[in-house]
Order: sequence, then structure tokens, then C-alpha cells
Amino acid sequence: MRIVEAGPAEAAVLSALYESAFAEAWAPEQLAQLLAGPGVLTLIALDEAGEPAGYALGRVAADEAELLSIGLLPGRRRRGGGRLLLDALVDRCASAGAKALFLEVATDNAAALALYRGAGFREAGIRKGYYKVGAAAVDAIVMKRDLLPAAAG
Ligand SMILES: CC(C)(COP(=O)(O)OP(=O)(O)OC[C@H]1O[C@@H](n2cnc3c(N)ncnc32)[C@H](O)[C@@H]1OP(=O)(O)O)[C@@H](O)C(=O)NCCC(=O)NCCS
Repeated sequence: MRIVEAGPAEAAVLSALYESAFAEAWAPEQLAQLLAGPGVLTLIALDEAGEPAGYALGRVAADEAELLSIGLLPGRRRRGGGRLLLDALVDRCASAGAKALFLEVATDNAAALALYRGAGFREAGIRKGYYKVGAAAVDAIVMKRDLLPAAAG
């Protein structure tokens, strides 16, 4: 897989990827607005055939960055795409001047937790009842990774 940068023009592609990854909709119009916002970084992973297989969205504000969303198509998981996207986002956030990258992950999302821990994220807090799942609520773990300054030149 390889990573390419994207923007508001790719909102429909992102919307389709999100819907497959999370089995819920994210309207292309809303996504396009988000993608056009200040500091937003959009990355798409393309498979060997050049087809979109996953995405990562981040946002940099001053010296902090946030992973907004990451997802791989169900049939494209466990091939290193998630890690590739995360590493690429880390690089871009550091280049944009961020000193730390934060994210939230549901306590029951074992795959994502393993991905983040393996990529050097550490637990920084808990948000009680952050995710609503029908009538139930699931806590979120806040995770943080310090970023090294981008190499000069
Ligand atoms: C989480 C997600 C993005 C991981 O993407 P991926 O491309 O499958 O991840 P990778 O292949 O790069 O895996 C990297 C590491 O993460 C961990 N990991 C990934 N999937 C895992 C799983 N199902 N179970 C346990 N560990 C897992 C492993 O440590 C893996 O390394 P390894 O394959 O060498 O063991 C993917 O499962 C996904 O899209 N899930 C649905 C959307 C989602 O939950 N997004 C995160 C919301 S916070």
C-alpha cells in the first residue's frame, strides 16, 4: 500500500471509506467542510491496484495535533495499512509543528488499541461515556504520543 494526500475534492471517496469501515454514514458535504478546515490533514491509503483501501484524518492546532479518524476497508485490514497511515500522519503533524498527537479510542476497540500502543501512544486519560452505542455508552481512552521536531532540511 502507499499513502497519498487528499483534500475536500476527495470527500466522496472518504465518505465511502468511512461508511465501509464504521458501518455508519458521514455525509460527503459535511466531510468536505471538515477537510477544508484549518490545519486538517487527509491521507488515503491506496492498495496495489491503486484503489482506496483506507484513510486517516488529523488536525493540527498550534503545537498540538489530533487524530480525528482512521479506518481501513474490512477486507484490507491486517496488512500494515493502518500503521502506514498512522506513521505518515505522525510525520506530517511533526512537520506542521505539532509537539504531541492525541487521540480517543473506545475501551472495547482491541484492534485500534493494539495499533496505537504499537505505534508508541500511551494512555493519558479516560472520557467516561464518550461513545454512544444505541442506549449504551462506552468510555474512551485518551492516548498521546510526543512528536520529535521534524528533521531540518
Ligand atoms: C484499527 C484499524 C484502523 C487497524 O488497521 P489495520 O490496517 O488492520 O492495522 P495494521 O495491519 O497496520 O496493524 C498494525 C498493528 O495493529 C495491531 N492490530 C491491528 N488489527 C488488530 C486486531 N484485529 N487484533 C489485534 N491487534 C491488531 C497489531 O499489533 C498490528 O500489528 P501486526 O499485524 O504486526 O500484529 C482497523 O482495524 C479498522 O479500520 N478498524 C475499524 C475502524 C476503527 O476502529 N478505527 C479506529 C477508531 S479509534
